[in-house]
This record gives sequence, structure tokens and C-alpha cells, in this order.
Amino acid sequence: MDAKNNNVLPFEIRDVEPELADELMKYFTGELTGFVQVGPKRYFLPNKYKQEARNIYNMPVRPTDIFVASYPRSGTTWTQELVWMVANDLDYEKSDAIPLTERYPFLEFSIFVHPIMKERFREENKHSPQKLKLLELVSQPGTEQLAAIAGARFIKTHLPLSLLPPALLDHGKMVYVARDPRDVVVSFYHLNRSMRTQGYVGDFKTYWNYFIRDLHHWTPYFDHLKEAWEKRHHPNMLFLFYEELSKDLPAAVRRVSAFLNKRYSEEQIQRLCRHLSVDSFKSNKSVNYDVMSELGIMVKGEGGFIRKGKAGGWREHFDEEMAQQAERWISDNLRGTDFRFPHMDK
Ligand code: A3P
Repeated sequence: MDAKNNNVLPFEIRDVEPELADELMKYFTGELTGFVQVGPKRYFLPNKYKQEARNIYNMPVRPTDIFVASYPRSGTTWTQELVWMVANDLDYEKSDAIPLTERYPFLEFSIFVHPIMKERFREENKHSPQKLKLLELVSQPGTEQLAAIAGARFIKTHLPLSLLPPALLDHGKMVYVARDPRDVVVSFYHLNRSMRTQGYVGDFKTYWNYFIRDLHHWTPYFDHLKEAWEKRHHPNMLFLFYEELSKDLPAAVRRVSAFLNKRYSEEQIQRLCRHLSVDSFKSNKSVNYDVMSELGIMVKGEGGFIRKGKAGGWREHFDEEMAQQAERWISDNLRGTDFRFPHMDK
């Protein structure tokens, strides 16, 4: 795909009104400029998205590209490692040697690293040239990191399809993973408290309310999901659920293998499932994002990047009012669509 019409964006990027942005920045202390809402669905992103929108939308996609996409905290890391291992002939040695963050440039992470925050991270890491180098790498725009890769590219993104290159599925492949939004919001709340790039300081109920009002990064949640769901029959799209991986991981491995035209024996699949277990992930430095703690971008205390790894844990965090509100919100958003979560009965 050529990067023609480099300046054309078929959607509008609007600043969030200053009063609302100020309120949000009191809760999300890692953002110091403000936020934008993008396109007709008003996807909510940090202000710095303006700098990257064109590069991302016009990024040339290659036939060997594999995107792993999701709304955050839906099992992206789990899916990334699964996909990478299946695509790379179960190369455990390489998987151990090269961290997931290097194997998968995160397309839009740079927009979450505010320049003032980056300066702070630089200052804190100034005595370690190796850490400074790592900091530059993780905060470099994903499009730049990807342009420098000669061979097959594995790409992590939380952007919805409408903000990605329009011909992405004509050229590359995508594996999209979705998860019960109640588990997503609990998991994301913990991560937002520990990631200083987001730096959330409020309580869970306040957080939940921003999430369902679509005033939180990468929301609206259901539009994100539905855009991918609509493409689920496209030969270059594989749509997975976290709950599916939780319930029957070997079956998910078989689906990914079929999608990537690979065949593995039952024994190989069993070994891969052990490698992909949450306990194995917790102690696997190649996938557990320890690098974020080492750089001081993430502070420990909220369970880390790999946290509980269970489906259905949201019940412990929702009071009765929130549980009912969530049920209404989910059914309102699913009305008139054929989207269903496999673990929900309606
Ligand atoms: P919890 O916070 O509910 O535990 P993402 O990678 O999209 O950010 O998603 C993170 C969520 O996936 C976290 O959920 C994390 O614990 C869970 N997860 C990561 N690796 C996992 C694995 N190997 N098995 C099960 N869950 C996993």
C-alpha cells in the first residue's frame, strides 16, 4: 500500500472542552495538556494524538504484518505471545531472549508519554545509558519503529479500525481480542493507577463513570468492539474473546494456528499452553512488562501488568447499583446488533 495523500484524514479531531479537560486532568495526572475526541464516534485520546494521527492512518501496511488489536486490558499481551509463538514456529528461545515490547512495537504508545512526563523519566534514569536507550525506544512513535523493521512485523494497537490504515485488512492480518467490559474496567482501573503516563488518582466508581460516559482513553468501548466484530468474517481478521482463551486455551491455539496456516501436534499445543499460563507469564520477564517498572513508568502496588488473569473478577469491585447500571449499559449497547459475549446468556 502506498502512503498517498499523506495529509488527508477523513475524520475530525476536536479538543475536549477546557473545563472538562481540566476536571479529567485532576484525575488522570499523567496528562498535562488535554484530550481530543476523534471522528463521529468521538474516540477519546490524549492531545498528543494530533501529532501522530496522520502517520498512523497513512502508515503503509505490508502483507506480512500481523496486528494484535483490542480495547486495553482485554488479553492483548496474552494474545500477542500466543500469536507470536504460533507465527514463529514455537521459537521459545527467541521469545525468551527478546521482550514482547521489542517484538511488538506499540503503535500509539508515544501519544501517552507527555513531553513533561518524558523529561521526568529521563531525569530519573539519567545515570543509566541503557535505561535511557530503552526509554527512547518505548516512547518513539510506533510508525517510526515499524518503518525500521525489514522483515515480518508484529504490531500492538488499541486503536479502533476506523483510525487505522483503511486498507489494513486488504494487506495485513489482524487478531482482535475482546473481553467482558466489567473485567476490562476493573483491570484498567488498576493499571491506570500504576502507570504514571495515566496516573489515575480517583476511586473506582468515579473511574467507572468516566468509562461509561466515553470520557476515557480509547472509548467508546462498544464502538471499538463493534468495528472489529463487523469484520470478523474477513479472511484476514480473527476475532477472539478473553473468556474463550480462559475456558479452552488449546482450542484458541488451534484457531490461531489455522488462521496463520500453521499446524502443531497436540503435544506442542500442550507445551505452548503451559508457556501461556498466567503463572508462567507472571515470572516471564519477556512478557510481563517489568521494563515499565524498571524505567519508573509503572509503579508497583496495583498487581502489575499481569495481574489476576481470571474471568469474572469484576463482581468483587461492583456494588449493586453499579452491577445493575452495567447490565443496562451492556444491553443498551448490544440492542439491535448480533454481537454477543460467549459467556453471557443474552
Ligand atoms: P486482570 O487485570 O483482570 O488480571 P492486556 O494485556 O490487554 O493489557 O490485558 C491484561 C489482562 O490480561 C490482565 O487482566 C492480565 O492479568 C490478563 N492476562 C495477561 N496474561 C494472561 C495470561 N497468560 N492468562 C490469563 N490472563 C492474562
